[in-house]
Amino acid sequence: MTTLPERDDRKTTPAIQEGVVRWRSPSNIAIVKYWGKYGEQMPCNPSLSLTLSKAYTETQIRFGPRKEEVPAREFSFHGNPAPQFARRIESYLERLADVFPVINETDLHIDSENSFPHSAGIASSASAMSALALGIGEIAYKAESKFPDKAFMQRVSQLARLGSGSACRSVFGPAALWGEAPEIPESSQEYAIPVEIHSDFHRVCDTILIVDDAAKAVSSRAGHMLMEGHIFASARFAQARSNLKRLLPALRNGDFETFGRIAEDEALTLHAMMMTSKPAYVLIKPNTLAIIEEIRKLRQERKVPVCFTLDAGPNVHLLYPGSAKKVVEEWIGETLMPLCKNGLLIHDRVGTGPEKLE
Ligand code: PMV
Repeated sequence: MTTLPERDDRKTTPAIQEGVVRWRSPSNIAIVKYWGKYGEQMPCNPSLSLTLSKAYTETQIRFGPRKEEVPAREFSFHGNPAPQFARRIESYLERLADVFPVINETDLHIDSENSFPHSAGIASSASAMSALALGIGEIAYKAESKFPDKAFMQRVSQLARLGSGSACRSVFGPAALWGEAPEIPESSQEYAIPVEIHSDFHRVCDTILIVDDAAKAVSSRAGHMLMEGHIFASARFAQARSNLKRLLPALRNGDFETFGRIAEDEALTLHAMMMTSKPAYVLIKPNTLAIIEEIRKLRQERKVPVCFTLDAGPNVHLLYPGSAKKVVEEWIGETLMPLCKNGLLIHDRVGTGPEKLE
């Protein structure tokens, strides 16, 4: 059953003053994947991600008391008007106003920027929606003269989930778990929680290899829906739970080998689900497979600890311990860069979560 975020049920809406809030929120990469949902963005299985560092969205919101009957809403992206995002953001703001009615009394001017090029084909909804939820949450808290605290982050994670499921995990670093898992009693379907991991995993690098930068032929939203009635759905959800159960001790103990096996199993299963849904579709490209082969070769022939994961797209996330950075980066330059579109790649690493900017 879907439980909605608690509504602020006071009779009067708190007064809003003029101000500006700014947040930087990172993207995240799922190791155990969320693929399949029900109700209001509830996951069919728990997922666990590493929070990134250099791939982030910065969102600034100027706000003030509503001047007209209808509150003003203005969006820009890198300083330019962004009507293409307006509908999604507006309907998200309407949903947030159910939780924080003060948003209906507030004019909002929202400006966002991504740290990564738009052409990189990186899904930005996790960083964008979490940055927006942080900003709106802070405005609502300000109206009540409250300051962001631990409970605030949990609430924001819940609100971010309504914008984009995976966004709820970006609120915490270096790792976040979303969805009920028996191993972690505090886990929830509604929001993500931070997960403690071995210090070696705090230094894990993620090089994002851009194989193709075109917009995806099938959106994640459609992909989630195709898990409804999917012939492998229940086996897939059970696999994710069992992978999570094995991943948690590996992350605690610094066991990169088990981590890698699970990451690759999850990535390939995610794409297997797409290839066996009805209708079926394929998002990986020839160079996705060429890169995977090279990664396996490096691991087998030179015993370098590397593994990969994939998002719902053709780009490859190459994961490796910070201690292997030098040798891996050299090899990437020689072997993988030629397989990337226009040689494009982004060297990222595990990060600590969102930052409030002054
Ligand atoms: O949050 P969404 O609806 O964009 O879905 C994300 C789906 C994956 O990136 C493929 C997996 C995940 O857990 O992030």
